[in-house]
Amino acid sequence: MQLPNHGANPHHVYAKLGIEPPDTLLDFSENVNPAGPPQAVSDSWPALLSKLSAYPDPFGEPFLSAAANFHGVSTPYLFAGNGAAELLALIAERYQGKKALIVHPTFSEYEATLTAKNVEVIQIIASETDGFDLPLATILEKMKEVSVLYLCTPNNPTGRLPTRDQLQTIVRRGAEVDCDCVFDEAFIDFVDESLSFIPEVENYPHVTVVRSMTKMYAIPGIRLGYVVASPSIIMDIKARAPHWNVNGIAAQIGAVCLREETYRQQVIHQSTVERQRLTEFLRRHGCTVTDSVANFLSFKPGPHQQASKLFQDLLQQGIVLRHSENFLGMDGHWLRVGMKKEAEMTRLKEVLAIWFAEN
Ligand SMILES: Cc1ncc(COP(=O)(O)O)c(C=O)c1O
Repeated sequence: MQLPNHGANPHHVYAKLGIEPPDTLLDFSENVNPAGPPQAVSDSWPALLSKLSAYPDPFGEPFLSAAANFHGVSTPYLFAGNGAAELLALIAERYQGKKALIVHPTFSEYEATLTAKNVEVIQIIASETDGFDLPLATILEKMKEVSVLYLCTPNNPTGRLPTRDQLQTIVRRGAEVDCDCVFDEAFIDFVDESLSFIPEVENYPHVTVVRSMTKMYAIPGIRLGYVVASPSIIMDIKARAPHWNVNGIAAQIGAVCLREETYRQQVIHQSTVERQRLTEFLRRHGCTVTDSVANFLSFKPGPHQQASKLFQDLLQQGIVLRHSENFLGMDGHWLRVGMKKEAEMTRLKEVLAIWFAEN
């Protein structure tokens, strides 16, 4: 059965499986920060009403300058979009009629946006027996056959982060064999900003870094993301985007969010603590767990336990995990969990402990 391809919106999963959703749901299938948006967003909300009656700035200001300032790059290196999802669609268009390399298991939108633009996708599958380590030698070899490589860093759904050395090797290889690199850093906010590849972009005109404001700042509803790349790539992406692609409210809220350093540090701390606790709990119960650095992890239940049964049994109890049916290389055997607040994580562990004991 074809289950929905994305986390969040759990009612689609219930409808597809014909399960009546309980009144209250705990949705671990999405990876958005459970703290909710920073207080400063609510505080600025009343003033934002005045923005409704004006067209937004066509360059996404004041967000664009705030993001440039945040990363210490100049604005010609940046372009803002209606979520990273819009930017991925625009980037895919750049490679129309060409070939792209994707390392699975990974975020399904790379392949979806590329195939929609008539890009031939070559797939590499990272092996679960290597803990989904980046298959570097194969990547370097295959790069000579394609125009672009996509990497999710840290990777959704494994949470694995390629090392700076690996990325440098890949990028240098890209320069050698004329293969662009698209690095999706949608979740790097939860790790450490100093690990971002953005400071390197000025040195490598064939690298595009994609960022999302959705996850860290808990604002998936307003749609805001950006790319950092050489000015020529930025101009090319911009030329493909609709005018006013970033709404005025999002551009204001994004600028407010980027000022929230204390909030960011607290969120990183909380998600790291919860991820470490859950990793330890799952390993103690015989599961294999990815070495995630992000605000989610993936796990595979013990040898005699079935992920699909666990998934459905938990759905009956109002607990939604992310299935892996459409993650190539995981093929339904793994489940992804997004970190929530402590009380919700405790509830999840209680329910899981019972399931592990009974199955
Ligand atoms: C790896 C990755 N990149 C990009 C996105 C899209 O983010 P946005 O909400 O900014 O469109 C997602 C959403 O789940 C994601 O998981």
